[in-house]
Amino acid sequence: MRVHVHQSAEAAAAETARLISETVRERREPVLGLATGGTMQPVYAGLVAAHRAGLSFAGLRSFNLDEYVGLPPDHPQSYRHYMQVQFFDHVDVPPDRIHVPRGDLDPDDAAAAFEAELAQHGPIDLQLLGLGRNGHIGFNEPGAPAGSRTRQVRLAPSTIEANRRFFDRDQSPPEVAVTMGIATILEARSIVLLAVGADKAQAVAAMLEGAIGVACPGSLLRRHSDVTVILDTEAASGLSGD
Ligand code: F6R
Repeated sequence: MRVHVHQSAEAAAAETARLISETVRERREPVLGLATGGTMQPVYAGLVAAHRAGLSFAGLRSFNLDEYVGLPPDHPQSYRHYMQVQFFDHVDVPPDRIHVPRGDLDPDDAAAAFEAELAQHGPIDLQLLGLGRNGHIGFNEPGAPAGSRTRQVRLAPSTIEANRRFFDRDQSPPEVAVTMGIATILEARSIVLLAVGADKAQAVAAMLEGAIGVACPGSLLRRHSDVTVILDTEAASGLSGD
């Protein structure tokens, strides 16, 4: 596992965008696993800037980690919509190569369809991950089985609270999602995890220096042979270095 610590969140996001751009440049038909959330917005801005500077995403196929159950793809708070606004609207990725679990279908059917698409077009060359304050990856909350695959999950109360900032005051954030499983994530050829800010420091320390186990899903990434963790100094502030 490589751990890169940057002086600022901006520099950490810029390195993440650069690593993704390199994968896209090197492969004729790159397969990316993508994440949403506040952390990733500057990463997508960096990729859009790379596109404007000449990088083509025409050969890209993308698989997003998760989606809220109950939200159709055009719902303003759906992750499919987030991806459209943050990234897809600004680059040349063909729409039929975009895969996001469907929030408007029966969750078991949506999960099975997503796994089938992944089996057909995978493996993922580079999986982008954020980190939950409780150590979740995708929406695999603490206790999620290491062998889990794409499925319906109930979000932890702290995750629902953290997501509330993306919803209007009179809307309650969804409590159920479809997420790639931990085993699904670990099948990617390489993984890049980005975490910034002091509110991730405890989860980062548990991921990198705590026991490897389902109590901190991020710690299970230490079983993968090609993982780059990109942090700013605040997110790295809980590390002892031991
Ligand atoms: C998003 C995802 C989540 C987020 C995590 C951090 O697709 O799978 O694991 O990466 O909750 O979210 P932010 O970046 O909003 O702190």
